[in-house]
Amino acid sequence: MPRLAVFHADNLAVLRALPDACVDLIYIDPPFNTGRVQKRTSLATVRDENGDRVGFKGQLYRTIRGRTSGYDDRFDDFLGFLQPRMEEAYRILVPDGSLFFHLDYREIHYCKVMLDGIFGRASFINEIIWAYDYGARSKKRWPAKHDNILWYAKNPESFTFNFDAMDRIPYMAPGLVGPRKAALGKTPTDVWWHTIVSPNGREKTGYATQKPRAIIDRIVKVHSRPGDILCDFFAGSGTLGESAFELGRNALLVDSNLEAVHVMKKRFEGMDVEWRRGAARAALSLRSLQEASAAQRSEPAPQQAKDEPSGPKSVPDAPAPGRKPGRPAGKKGATARVSKGSGKKGATARGEKSSEKKSAEKKRSGTEIAASVAG
Ligand SMILES: C[S@@+](CC[C@H](N)C(=O)[O-])C[C@H]1O[C@@H](n2cnc3c(N)ncnc32)[C@H](O)[C@@H]1O
Repeated sequence: MPRLAVFHADNLAVLRALPDACVDLIYIDPPFNTGRVQKRTSLATVRDENGDRVGFKGQLYRTIRGRTSGYDDRFDDFLGFLQPRMEEAYRILVPDGSLFFHLDYREIHYCKVMLDGIFGRASFINEIIWAYDYGARSKKRWPAKHDNILWYAKNPESFTFNFDAMDRIPYMAPGLVGPRKAALGKTPTDVWWHTIVSPNGREKTGYATQKPRAIIDRIVKVHSRPGDILCDFFAGSGTLGESAFELGRNALLVDSNLEAVHVMKKRFEGMDVEWRRGAARAALSLRSLQEASAAQRSEPAPQQAKDEPSGPKSVPDAPAPGRKPGRPAGKKGATARVSKGSGKKGATARGEKSSEKKSAEKKRSGTEIAASVAG
């Protein structure tokens, strides 16, 4: 069973307590430096004959305002805040690990320059644009309706890219491509169309700035393998943790806001979670994630932190949760290590697709990243 470790702490302290090369994938969504306090108030409606909202069959409802939660998103020196954390992120990534860095138009260009300096320009692989269509529209300039996600591979010659684990998107004109291709859908590009977390939808936790599962699931499925250790040190409502757990990965999460920890407690009910206050036991918790990871892969846990040389390498089979170790998982090539230098994909292939389908894919078929404006 996958495991999560959640820290209520400043992430810099936790990162500094972790050994080198110990996590396979980092996704972070730092505060956007919007210059405001990020707030969300939960709302509920109840039937009330004197209510001011008209609902189904003309019945009247009253709105009850719930708790307001939030965190301060104002920084005098945003890059000065991020830089030491990103240097630690680079250090704790395994040699073929990847970083996904999520921000918006306000700061992304400064951050890209900073990350190029830490990872090296060659390690920058993609800028993903998450485009959505929600909220007010300015009449004074083009309404900004996208976020930016930068992908850096620690070693640009070797990283995880599970092409076959990718959800596919519908053709705009399926009649032009034939039924087989139309049913298969097409490969997504670096522009991902998906709505924000709906304020009334089933995904909503009530945490301001919560990101949609479909966006995070795509990153987790394509850029990590079952049993891997993932990390989000700006965890918020814990979207990365939930995705990791449901897709058979382990995750280490950090947030300095108590509100975020409360939201995660609720969200992770029934999951195997270690809760920690402060950074003191970070190395111990990592060890317990490594044990979970080793059990998932049926290998002994490493005696010390991973510190492997970079470059293409052979990795052992990683059975998905619930599958007997060593048993092939149906079709070949569901998981592949990409070695750019070798010019081919799939240096090592494992199956994960069938188990993932069984778990999260089915459940959220209605929220998959579906629409694309590109032909
Ligand atoms: C944009 S939110 C993350 C939202 C998250 N991706 C989700 O889906 O819910 C950024 C988070 O970073 C946290 N944060 C800010 N500074 C931090 C620090 N120094 N250490 C740990 N967490 C921090 C905030 O409390 C906030 O929850």
